Amino acid sequence: MLRDDLGFTATKVGCDAGDCGACTVLLDGEPVSACMTPVGGLAGRQVQTLEGLRASGECHGLQTAFLMHGAAQCGICTPGMLVSAAALLRVTPAPTEQQVMDALGGVLCRCTGYRKIITAVMNAGAAEVAEPSPPVGKAVGHRVRRVDGQRKVDGTDVFGADDSPAGALVIRVVRSPFHRARFQLGDVDAYVAASPGVVAVLTAADIPGRNRFGVIPATADQPVFAEPDEEVRFRGEAVAMIVGEPEPMAALDTATFPVVWSELPPVMSIDDAQASGAPRLHPTREGNVLIRGNVRRGELDRAFAAAEIEVEGVFETGFIEHAYIEPEAGYAERIGDRVEVQVTTQSPHMDRIELEAILGLPAEAVRIKPTAVGGGFGSKLDLSVQPYLALAAWTLGRPVRLTYTRPESMMSTTKRHPSRLRARVGATHDGRLTAMDFTGEFNTGAYASWGSTVANRVPVHAGGPYVYDAYRARTVAIHTNGPPSATNRFRQSCAWQFAFRTERLGSLPIRVVPTS
Ligand code: FES
Ligand code: FES
Repeated sequence: MLRDDLGFTATKVGCDAGDCGACTVLLDGEPVSACMTPVGGLAGRQVQTLEGLRASGECHGLQTAFLMHGAAQCGICTPGMLVSAAALLRVTPAPTEQQVMDALGGVLCRCTGYRKIITAVMNAGAAEVAEPSPPVGKAVGHRVRRVDGQRKVDGTDVFGADDSPAGALVIRVVRSPFHRARFQLGDVDAYVAASPGVVAVLTAADIPGRNRFGVIPATADQPVFAEPDEEVRFRGEAVAMIVGEPEPMAALDTATFPVVWSELPPVMSIDDAQASGAPRLHPTREGNVLIRGNVRRGELDRAFAAAEIEVEGVFETGFIEHAYIEPEAGYAERIGDRVEVQVTTQSPHMDRIELEAILGLPAEAVRIKPTAVGGGFGSKLDLSVQPYLALAAWTLGRPVRLTYTRPESMMSTTKRHPSRLRARVGATHDGRLTAMDFTGEFNTGAYASWGSTVANRVPVHAGGPYVYDAYRARTVAIHTNGPPSATNRFRQSCAWQFAFRTERLGSLPIRVVPTS
């Protein structure tokens, strides 16, 4: 009600389930999650949002402190933080660190690590005037205010779900409930006719251009909608979208959508995908191998023979959800012979290139308008809502909007790669690294996404900033029926180094030898 009916978009929705605190408002002065507060119980009570606190000037000191201390980074959690902090400062004007942590404990932040926020709240009373930014050329050693910082502490920055044209239709994506399955669509025309408020159902048959997208043109392999003569390759893969008027769509039961599933046994692990007789996810990718990476230098056997100490280890990482507070969201509208998509994205130019191909349009016919991004951490480099928005707006000639639910976001968007990393390292007693032999196997999920980048960058990064007499690093990205894996490669190439050095080589006097 606050956001859609009253237009108070400073209050954010991160989870819609009472977990993230992005929707925190004050109810009779007490912080509550708006998403868990029924409107029916509010008669005679006072609700204050960031807009209200800002208008009264009550949180001016807090806003200034957030700016000065860099406490608003992406800014999606900032309204919830400010509202919760304002409630604390009303009763405790000079809080201790523990009191601040207790008061803000219900609001999650994925960017700051919380220290800057705690410092800002503890210094809210002292920050009457924000330090001006230094002149051009004098920034080193000075705090520099974010150029978009004021909008973030005001709650006026526009994120993906904060804006859409009047009368926009909404989209519900129909997704596979199975990791691997075949499917058949029923009579979608009859479904549309029998569903009040539903305007259209769009499927693979409605895509005017290429029903494939990706981030690297040579490996673009993910369908916008799975084709009925293909398998769905991961749980959450799209097979259709329902477009309709907002109110009836909110009550729509997608369980009645005409689709029949035939579940198939999936391959979920690196070993399963490489076992003999394993089903091949992509016909041209033998052994389910997307790509291999390889970096070599020097003569490995000779370098290991010269080593006085040798250590070896195997390390595994799992899928990691990026878990930004802002779910994927945006809107699109057709303007004459162009389509415009306003969306939360880390890569507007790559989005445009993919949408041109999907819609079969020239470059000048697609415009991406990036909003503020409420956390991306690499995952918003990939397409998510963009193809559905663009296709519906282009096909139907009406504005459309789409915001993923938290489960939908977690189910359908890219993850960090699960990996199995083996490393063997040789060193001398005086702490010189002589040889390293590294292999990395990456579960790249159902589609390529950034898998080839990860498999090719990790061999470069795996040795860290050290000089070895000989070095070999080999990697492979392997398809499974898991969600597509994407960035972040850095954490996975370095994780083993921390573990390895602290657990196995910690007693050696390792020296870092600078290179040119
Ligand atoms: S707690 Fe309400 S949106 Fe997350
Ligand atoms: S600044 Fe807190 S989630 Fe981004």
